[in-house]
Amino acid sequence: MSAIRTRTLEEYHADYQHSVEDPDAFWAAVAEPFTWHRKWDTVRGGEFSPAGTSTWYAGATLNLTENCLDRHLEQRANKLAIIYEPNDPKVRHLRLTYRELHARVCQFANVLKKNGVGKGDRVVLYMPMIPELAVAVLACARIGAVHGVIFAGFSASAIADRVNDAQATCILTADGLNRGAKQIPVKSVVDEALETCPSVRRVIVVEHTGWPVEMQGGRDAWYHEEVADVDKDCPAEVMAAEDPLFILYTSGSTGKPKGVVHTQAGYMVWADYTFRNVFQIEENDVFWCTADIGWVTGHTYGLYGPLLAGGTTLLFEGVPTYPSPGRFWEVIDKHHVSVFYTAPTAIRSLMAHSVDHVLAYSLHSLRVLGSVGEPINEEAWYWYDQHVGKGRCPIVDTWWQTETGGIMISALAGITLSVPARAGLPLPGVQPVLLNQDGTEIEGNNQEGYLAIKASWPGVIRTTWGDHERARQTYFQPYPGYYFTGDGARRDAQGLYRIVGRVDDVINVSGHRFGTAEIENAINQSDYVVESAVVGYPHDVKGQGIYAYVICRHGLPTTDLETQKAEASIIEAVVAAIGRIAKPDKIQLVSGLPKTRSGKIMRRILRKVAEGETTNLGDVTTLLDPQVVDEILGGRK
Ligand code: WTA
Repeated sequence: MSAIRTRTLEEYHADYQHSVEDPDAFWAAVAEPFTWHRKWDTVRGGEFSPAGTSTWYAGATLNLTENCLDRHLEQRANKLAIIYEPNDPKVRHLRLTYRELHARVCQFANVLKKNGVGKGDRVVLYMPMIPELAVAVLACARIGAVHGVIFAGFSASAIADRVNDAQATCILTADGLNRGAKQIPVKSVVDEALETCPSVRRVIVVEHTGWPVEMQGGRDAWYHEEVADVDKDCPAEVMAAEDPLFILYTSGSTGKPKGVVHTQAGYMVWADYTFRNVFQIEENDVFWCTADIGWVTGHTYGLYGPLLAGGTTLLFEGVPTYPSPGRFWEVIDKHHVSVFYTAPTAIRSLMAHSVDHVLAYSLHSLRVLGSVGEPINEEAWYWYDQHVGKGRCPIVDTWWQTETGGIMISALAGITLSVPARAGLPLPGVQPVLLNQDGTEIEGNNQEGYLAIKASWPGVIRTTWGDHERARQTYFQPYPGYYFTGDGARRDAQGLYRIVGRVDDVINVSGHRFGTAEIENAINQSDYVVESAVVGYPHDVKGQGIYAYVICRHGLPTTDLETQKAEASIIEAVVAAIGRIAKPDKIQLVSGLPKTRSGKIMRRILRKVAEGETTNLGDVTTLLDPQVVDEILGGRK
């Protein structure tokens, strides 16, 4: 295992200093214990900023799955690698040891090869949270194919955009998906998407729900038939450190989601290092990250981090409230979960139910609690601490992003300070700064500014798929010398970071990122719509809700029925273009939007109105038509 494991506060300060003063030596020591085919020539290389061409461990060759699986076979062959808990508690769970997982990964890797998938090819996975998804991700890594997991809540059109951008040749999906009481026919969503995806030659379908599906001859094949006659041995492809490992699409402030690319060696080291240090993982821990593998949290802490560390990870197919709001706690007791990692939105949704749902379970296996995806409010933090952690489990509030590959700012469980609503101190290797709008660094504590990172770290985004210039312009050019996060942050009196929220046009809904432009583009697809403007507003459960101001083609509706029709059409357009997860929470039909004389929408005003601020809207005299503000105020939802 990695040489550097921080176990005390003194060690944290020493390791932090070492990582900043001599990063090459520090990250060489961390990387030493992994399985390499060839060691690196240089630890850090390329140009961090403004070109955004960082390299880590260049010259090294390796295979990630040898590090996730093969190297554990000697000591941990019979240890549980994955515990799968199905959506329906009446369905039997499944446990896979490292030996079994290794065999399944090799088998499916052989299936991929048999179906013409090779090194560098892109494979898209649109799947329920079932073991086959984890197996397939690792099988791609085994043969050097680039995996692109798409959360199975995105629409056919969103899948098509991503598949075409990645030029994927193969898709893995299932006949269906159960999410709580909801049933989603994922295969037919894929079928619809593929009508416009000429690059896809093969679709492999997991039989999961048993629902009837249409199999297209020559294109579609069943998973269970494909794995039946392949070998359980598959040599690992030897990969270069900077070969792409995966593409994960995420929203930014422009209309089109971008394919964030992570590579082999740096991501591996970062996932493993952050996992073991933040959660202070011990050999017998059962780790449960509730995020779907369709998001980065599921990649790094549902799968790669725990397996790299030789740990046991729990995959949960369901939702927190099904069949009852006690489900999380039931699962923790059932599988003796010791480290639990979830999102504030899940905590808040459970807080809305009686606390008896928590108190019915012992939760005595729990040791460490984590939070991710959005700022955790104090109320939720205390509830989590008191009722779930029983006041004896350290809470780590972990700040990071799809682009950072792994956790950047967080307490190390039980070691560095954990204060409600503070992410805390940076991990070793992470150099956060606060910037003024003009890009100058803000020194000292009790300060607020744009959060940026001053030096490269092993998990940094390498590029945006097919368009490096976009990555450069988004992250490395705004403030030359820094990686720009898009978040605002405060450094408190003790130097702890508190994330304030996005400073760009990104809304964080239940921990999921959407660009306002992306949602506006979707809304504008409706026949009813001429123009729209979308902003976020504080939402009790979701963190942020989506508030859409929409100008209708035929003017303001005059009857309730017309209003309902327009709203239904707007929602339908969003569901079709992005998916149900991006549905606006509030729609206000308006006859105009507050624009400056140059035609720019003044979002500041729209945001204030959505937030419930009705006075104090600031200077409206520069508006083309200040009257629309009164109308908007009058019609506020
Ligand atoms: C937000 C999820 C406050 C932030 C890992 C960031 C957070 C965006 C936290 C990335 C946290 C994530 N406290 N805000 N602990 N964690 N965020 O790419 O705005 O889905 O920029 O990665 O979520 O979202 P993403």
